[in-house]
Amino acid sequence: MKKYFVIGNPIEHSLSPQIHEFWMKKNNLNAFYKKQKLSNVDLSDYILKIKNKEIDGINVTIPFKKEIISYLDELSLEAEKTQSVNTICLSNKKVVGHNTDINGFKFAIRDTKYDATNKKVFILGAGGVVSSIILALIDMNVSNIFVTNRTKSKADDLKNLFKSVKIVEWGEIPDFDMIINATSLGLKNEEISLDFSKIKNDKFFYDVIYNPFETNFLRNAKKAGNFTENGKKMFIYQAAEAFKIWHGIQPEINDEVFKILGQ
Ligand code: ATR
Repeated sequence: MKKYFVIGNPIEHSLSPQIHEFWMKKNNLNAFYKKQKLSNVDLSDYILKIKNKEIDGINVTIPFKKEIISYLDELSLEAEKTQSVNTICLSNKKVVGHNTDINGFKFAIRDTKYDATNKKVFILGAGGVVSSIILALIDMNVSNIFVTNRTKSKADDLKNLFKSVKIVEWGEIPDFDMIINATSLGLKNEEISLDFSKIKNDKFFYDVIYNPFETNFLRNAKKAGNFTENGKKMFIYQAAEAFKIWHGIQPEINDEVFKILGQ
C-alpha cells in the first residue's frame, strides 16, 4: 500500500486527506493519505522515509514550505523561484520538491474569468503561500504587485525574491484593481483592520481562506458591490496537481469534491 502524508503545524484543519483519499478511491489506488503534526526536528525523518521508500509522497503546509527546502535533493524550477515547496516525491532516487500552489492560484483565477492582465494587485500578508501567488501574478502579466505585511521584514524577503514587488506599510492602501487576503485573518472570523470605505465598488477581492467560505473581508467587499472569490478552487487545484505528480492521473474535479470542502 502506498503512503502519503500532509505535514504541518497546526494540521488539524487540513482537508487534504479527505480530498486525496476521495480521488484515490475513485481511481482504485491501493494507497492512504494521512495528516501528521510535525515539529522542525521531525522534518529530516520524513525526508529519510521518502528516500528509503517507506513513504511515497508528502504535502507540506504551514509553517514548513520554506524550511523543508534544505532537506531536499532537488527543486522544480517553480519551487526554486518561489523558495516554497508543498509537494515532495522520490524521482530517480532523489527527493524532489515541487510547488503546486502556483498553478492552484492560476487555475482558480482562470475559472473566475477575471482578466488580470495589466491589473494592479495588492497582497495582504507575506506568509508561506505568497511567493507562489506573486509568481503566478507575474506570469499573468499584471502591471503592479504591492505587498503589505504586519511584520515588514517578511515582506522585504519577498522583495528580495521578486524585485518588481513594491512594499507598502501595514495600514496603507495603494490604488488597486485586485486585492488578495493571504493573511490568516478571517480563519477565526477576525476583521482586517484596513479601511476600504474609500475604495470604488468595482474591485476583485480574493481570499485564500475557504473555511469559513465567506470571511468578513469577502462579505464586506461583496456588500459594497465588489466581485469576490474564496480560496476553495486554489486548494482543489493544488491538490489535483500534487495527485498528478504522484500518481500520473489527472483527478476529476466534480461536485463531490466541492462537498468535501463543505461548499
Ligand atoms: P507563516 O507566516 O508562518 O508562513 P502563514 O499562515 O502562511 O504563516 O501566514 C500568516 C500571515 O498572516 C502572515 O503574513 C502574518 O503576518 P506576520 O508575518 O506579521 O505574522 C499574518 N497575520 C497573522 N495574524 C495577523 C494579525 N493579527 N494582524 C496582521 N497580520 C496577521
